[in-house]
Amino acid sequence: MGILGLRKTERFATMPPNQPGPSREMLFFPGVEELNQEAARRLVELAKVSIAAQGHFSLALSGGSTPEKLYNLLANAPYKDQFDWSKVLIFFGDERCVPPNHPDSNYRMASQALLSKVPLPSENIHRMHGEDPPEEAAAAYAQELEKAFGLEHGDGPSPENFPSFDLILLGMGPDGHTASLFPGTQALQERGRPVTVNHVPRLNSDRITLTAPAINQAGQVWFLVVGEDKAEPLVRVLEGEFQPQTYPSQLVSPQHGKLLWMLDEAAAAKLTKRS
Ligand code: 6PG
Repeated sequence: MGILGLRKTERFATMPPNQPGPSREMLFFPGVEELNQEAARRLVELAKVSIAAQGHFSLALSGGSTPEKLYNLLANAPYKDQFDWSKVLIFFGDERCVPPNHPDSNYRMASQALLSKVPLPSENIHRMHGEDPPEEAAAAYAQELEKAFGLEHGDGPSPENFPSFDLILLGMGPDGHTASLFPGTQALQERGRPVTVNHVPRLNSDRITLTAPAINQAGQVWFLVVGEDKAEPLVRVLEGEFQPQTYPSQLVSPQHGKLLWMLDEAAAAKLTKRS
C-alpha cells in the first residue's frame, strides 16, 4: 500500500506523469534561494508523512551544486529537528568512480553538507562504492537495494524487484542529462536492472547510476533546475519532441508517482507553458 492508502497501481492511473495533469507539478521561483527553501519545506513534510504512514522515509540524493544548497538548509534550523532522522534511509541516484573522500564524490558532498550534521545512524546511509571496479560497484548496489527494500531478485521493473524510493532528487545538466544518464550513452537502453555502470565518452570516465526504469518506480521525483544555461535544454525536454537519446531527462516519467519540476526564472525563461 502506498502512503495515500491506495495501491500504487491505482494512483494516477489515468494520467501519464510526464504530461500536464495531477501527477506533474511545476513550481517557479525567482532564484535558487527561494527554490531551495520551498524544496526543504516540502521535503520535511513528505518525510513526516512517510514516517507516520510507514515508519521510514527513503530518499535518493543527487550530486550537483543545486542540491548541495538544499542539503545545507536541511542540516540547519528550522528544518533539521522537524523529523526523526533515525527513520530516514539515504541512497544515491548516481556516483562518480572515485573514492568517497575525493572532491568529485557525490557521497563526500552530501556527507559534508548534510549526512555528517544530522543524527543519522551510519547503517541508514547506502552509498555507491565509487572506489570499487565499476561493474562490481553497480552489482553490489543493486544487491544492497534488494536487501534494503526486501526485493525479489528478478529481471525488469516491477514493484517486486525494483526499489520504490519515497523521493528521488534529480538535477539536470546543460546537455539534458540527469543522474548519470548522459546523451547517447549505453545506460539509456537499460531496462532490466535498477543500477548500472555508464561509460561517458565526453567525460572519459565511468559513472554508476540508477536507471530510468528504477527512477520511474519512485513515489515522488523532484527535478531542481536553476540557471540560464538550463533554459534551452529545459524547453527541449519539456516542450520538444520525444528524443531521449539526446535529452535523457525525458526518460523520467514516474509510472505511478508524482513528478515535480522546481525551476528558477532563469532556467524557465524559454518555456511557453507553465503547467
Ligand atoms: C552529478 C549529478 C548530475 C547533476 C546535474 C545538474 O553527479 O553531477 O547527479 O546529474 O544533478 O549535472 O547539476 P547542477 O545542479 O550542478 O546543475
